[in-house]
Amino acid sequence: MRRLRVGVMISGRGSNLQALLDACAAPDFPAEIVLVVSNRADAQGLARAKAVGVATRVVPHRDFASREAFDAAVTEAFEAVEAELICMAGFMRLVSAEFVQHWRDRLINIHPALLPAFKGLDTHRRALAAGAKEHGCTVHFVRHEMDSGPIVGQAVVRVLADDTADTLAARVLEAEHRLYPHCLRLIAEGRVRVRGEIAEIAGNGAPD
Ligand code: GRF
Repeated sequence: MRRLRVGVMISGRGSNLQALLDACAAPDFPAEIVLVVSNRADAQGLARAKAVGVATRVVPHRDFASREAFDAAVTEAFEAVEAELICMAGFMRLVSAEFVQHWRDRLINIHPALLPAFKGLDTHRRALAAGAKEHGCTVHFVRHEMDSGPIVGQAVVRVLADDTADTLAARVLEAEHRLYPHCLRLIAEGRVRVRGEIAEIAGNGAPD
């Protein structure tokens, strides 16, 4: 079986990276992680990759004069290992228009809200403040406008009356860990086609 060659971009904890690593550990999973890039040397996620023998690379953003130069170094790192798809997993920097264009429809992100609601940061507190009854997470192809782009999959989490931002975040994070590998599988199996700003899913696109 040919496995899709995947690069992952992180900045921190890396729990979504862990979910992807765990999925890729199954011999019949149609993707493999060929490189993890972090912009921070202290990202906990780096140890998760190293623990299972996956290559890592730190590209410190402060070493570059511009966002474009940093992004170009990241692209070079992924191209050197022939990555075919890039997954952003808690990568906490905006990327340049050039980077988005270069990886168009080959770059996905996970966002902790049901897009297009609650783009940006602090999504769980804002969902509670808005009285949302359902919240969740979204995997989407990346476009230049932050937290926008064709939606590959979403998982819904019911908001409970006594939720705090932390309890809600914890349940959404569990949903993220199921959703991200599911969406990666859909793409790796060739079941996702982007037409305009819509991602069409062949077969059942709902999370397991
Ligand atoms: C997740 O909530 C993800 O949705 C958001 O950043 C967080 C990263 O967490 N983009 P982790 O580093 O994967 O644990």
